[in-house]
Amino acid sequence: MIVDVLLGLQWGDEGKGKVVDYLAADYDMVARFQGGPNAGHTLILEGGHKYVLHTIPSGIFFPQTQNLIGNGVVVDPLTLEQEIQKLEQAGLTISRNLYIARKAHLILPTHKILDAASEQYKGQGKIGSTLKGIGPTYMDKTGRNGLRVGDLESPDFEARYEELKQKHLRLLELYPYEFQLEPLEKAWFQSLERLRSLNFVDGEYFINDALRAGRRILAEGAQGSMLDIDFGTYPFVTSSNTISAGVCTGLGLSPRTIGDVIGISKAYCTRVGSGPFPTEEDNETGERLRKEGGEFGATTGRPRRCGWIDLPALKYSILLNGVTRLVITKVDVLNHFDEIKACTGYRLNGEVTDRMPYNLNETLPEPIYRSFPGWNCSLSGIERYEDLPENLLTYLRFLEQELEVPVVMISSGPEREQLIRRQLADLTVTPAR
Ligand code: GDP
Ligand code: IMO
Ligand code: MG
Repeated sequence: MIVDVLLGLQWGDEGKGKVVDYLAADYDMVARFQGGPNAGHTLILEGGHKYVLHTIPSGIFFPQTQNLIGNGVVVDPLTLEQEIQKLEQAGLTISRNLYIARKAHLILPTHKILDAASEQYKGQGKIGSTLKGIGPTYMDKTGRNGLRVGDLESPDFEARYEELKQKHLRLLELYPYEFQLEPLEKAWFQSLERLRSLNFVDGEYFINDALRAGRRILAEGAQGSMLDIDFGTYPFVTSSNTISAGVCTGLGLSPRTIGDVIGISKAYCTRVGSGPFPTEEDNETGERLRKEGGEFGATTGRPRRCGWIDLPALKYSILLNGVTRLVITKVDVLNHFDEIKACTGYRLNGEVTDRMPYNLNETLPEPIYRSFPGWNCSLSGIERYEDLPENLLTYLRFLEQELEVPVVMISSGPEREQLIRRQLADLTVTPAR
């Protein structure tokens, strides 16, 4: 009776989609617990077919795996419809294994306009939001004004929509922002038909019943721990709890149901959008990482900022999440670097620390690096962890020692099978905690 959790330990885009897709075969249900279409989870399947999932959990390609969009997620019917269309074109029957919690909140067209208006108003201080309406929708949720998926079943849905829209229009008068609501609204209402045709469930009962029936469940995080609303680099964060605590509120699970917490980190680090990034290499090294790693946003196409792995930030994420297992992705991106660096501490106001300072926004700490020789070879064809090049093993051993969590898997390419699982990585077995 446990739910394993898989989530990002950095600023998002760690390769969660790829790893969830790989692991989904081991689970009966994959559930998203927070975030919304700001997420972009890339899956590359047989034949190199690429899919980017925004709201739909990454277990969708396994027909026997149920996929739940939990109450903690915010749903834009329009993006969801487009996502479903692409999957149906690929031959999937979505109605068979996709479920949506009635308590998930709806992103309205005016939420997206408010997001854009607020970002424009902030000018230089903008968050770098994906402009998918995430912030305004969660604001209405906590402000107790929001509309939920289950409200679509209510006869007064349109009246309630109109009431909330009018409130948004009054708010928009605060901003010098031009917009055209009608075409967005028309498309949004049309997409409601598709949403209504999906399986609505009382998510908290749905998932707890499944647990009681002995089903194996994987909770799939979106964004990353450093974008968490409480613990991330505030205010340059998203509007939900991206850490493992969000699994309980975002799915209706008790803390006692949580099993393994699988934390994912790239072998280096990226960030997209504004905000502090201590190990950023805003130079040729960063450009090389971007090029080798194809570091462009899966949702917005924006170039991602790149830099070295940041151990103080990872230690912080591991602490907050209770990570039991580590997955290191995009190791292949470093294949041809002569030198690889890892930040082991920060120097701030003359002091050295490996803890995250309260505020990184005014003074960026200076990273202290440890350097490693590269392995300068391709990893293709390597199937066993022990057969990895010695210099890479040294780097991985160092990460394990510093982070005090075992590395159970490394990802060595974007495709599903480009994953090297270590022997102890039998994820159906609960380790001693
Ligand atoms: P997510 O948001 O955490 O699911 O990650 P994204 O899909 O936004 O970004 C990860 C990107 O890296 C995608 O383009 C993946 O196809 C790609 N990717 C994932 N794992 C690997 C890997 O091990 N090596 C390489 N080269 N690319 C990877
Ligand atoms: P996945 O799930 C990377 C970033 C945005 C912005 C900040 C707030 O693919 O890892 P928002 O749209 O939530 O108002 O944006 O958070 N951000 C992400 N960065 N990966 C994501 O998701 C992200 N979702 C949001 O760039 O800086
Ligand atoms: Mg992504």
